[in-house]
Amino acid sequence: MTAGRNAPFIPGPTNMPERLRLAMDIALEDQRAPDFPVFVLGLFRDLKRIFKTDRGEIFIFPGSGTGGWEAAITNTLSPGDTVLASRFGQFSHLWVDLCRRHGLEVEAIDVDWGEGVPVARYAERLGADTAHEIKAVLVCHNETATGVTSDVAAVRAALDAADHPALLCVDGVSSIASIDFRMDEWGVDLAVSGSQKGFMLPTGLAMVGASEKALEAARSAQCPRCFFDFADMVRTNRDGFFPYTPATTLLRGLRASLDMLLEEGLDNVFARHHRLAGGVRRAVEAWGLALCAKEPKWYSDTVSAIQVPDGFDANDVVKMAYLRYNLSLGLGLSKVAGAVFRIGHLGALNELMLLSALAGSEMAMRDLGIPVEPGSGVAAAEEHYRTTARPVDMSRGATAAI
Ligand SMILES: Cc1ncc(COP(=O)(O)O)c(C=O)c1O
Repeated sequence: MTAGRNAPFIPGPTNMPERLRLAMDIALEDQRAPDFPVFVLGLFRDLKRIFKTDRGEIFIFPGSGTGGWEAAITNTLSPGDTVLASRFGQFSHLWVDLCRRHGLEVEAIDVDWGEGVPVARYAERLGADTAHEIKAVLVCHNETATGVTSDVAAVRAALDAADHPALLCVDGVSSIASIDFRMDEWGVDLAVSGSQKGFMLPTGLAMVGASEKALEAARSAQCPRCFFDFADMVRTNRDGFFPYTPATTLLRGLRASLDMLLEEGLDNVFARHHRLAGGVRRAVEAWGLALCAKEPKWYSDTVSAIQVPDGFDANDVVKMAYLRYNLSLGLGLSKVAGAVFRIGHLGALNELMLLSALAGSEMAMRDLGIPVEPGSGVAAAEEHYRTTARPVDMSRGATAAI
């Protein structure tokens, strides 16, 4: 396993580009230096562009996505508050669990894994809540465990139709910076992300967007908090500092990540993810397998959870792929453990990289006796990539004559 390199196709941490690694290969620095704020304020400015908010604030905490969940919840809610949520995968489940551990009353609607946020049921519940007891509505935008993307704008529309003031809290850990996300336009009050997925960085930063309404709620929210307190952040961030020692090296990486995302252009980043995901979906079809996501409207452009046929263990596919081909695929989690394996297709990726993951998956499945036609998935994805590729100008550059 020493030659070549590991092919990382878990849905986060993702494949870190060399440019980001080099940006972080620096000496540690003085986080109170007079020129530090200029650097930090630029990060907030550009993160707002990624979250698509002019009116909100972005907070950067040392932490992971889970810390972002905790920051969002503890800053804006009080123990005993009612929260409306839905569970359809390990991450939507864990967020509910975190809320309950903070003393919140979570009404969790259980949905079949493979579907997403049940907007009609949310609408019904919000409409019935004329006393406005529900203080927050949770949406896991992209359920990484099942490869399901939910419709955040539709949840906003349901809140508006019911004229309901609950905060709209969105888990964007595996969506923000990879697929379309519009904090202001969708009226998102709290948006949570982490550094190790679409931002292509190591784990270690939790990024949380908070609307004006969320910041207002933070003034009276009673959940205990200290490390994640928005108020401490606001006080120091406005001058470009932090209330405690920031992860300066990761912040330098974040600078490079934002530069890469903005240079490519967010719309191009989203289109690239969509096109790459399309190739994976065609491969799955060619293998004669099914996605965990039940209908195209749920298909995620950042991760595909692929069901193996009955009688086979998807964990073995993941293990074989790693041990024999040095390919890291995502395991099925919790309820779908053993039933699905996942291919993460987010971050710094192109067609050929993804084809290697499809080839490795195909080989591992065949090694285990799963009846897939050799080369079928790779061929289907290749055709998708070829036929949807941008035209090239063949007159550019020279061709060597030997
Ligand atoms: C959708 C989603 N939310 C939350 C999390 C938790 O994030 P972390 O593992 O960074 O704490 C993850 C992690 O994979 C995730 O995919």
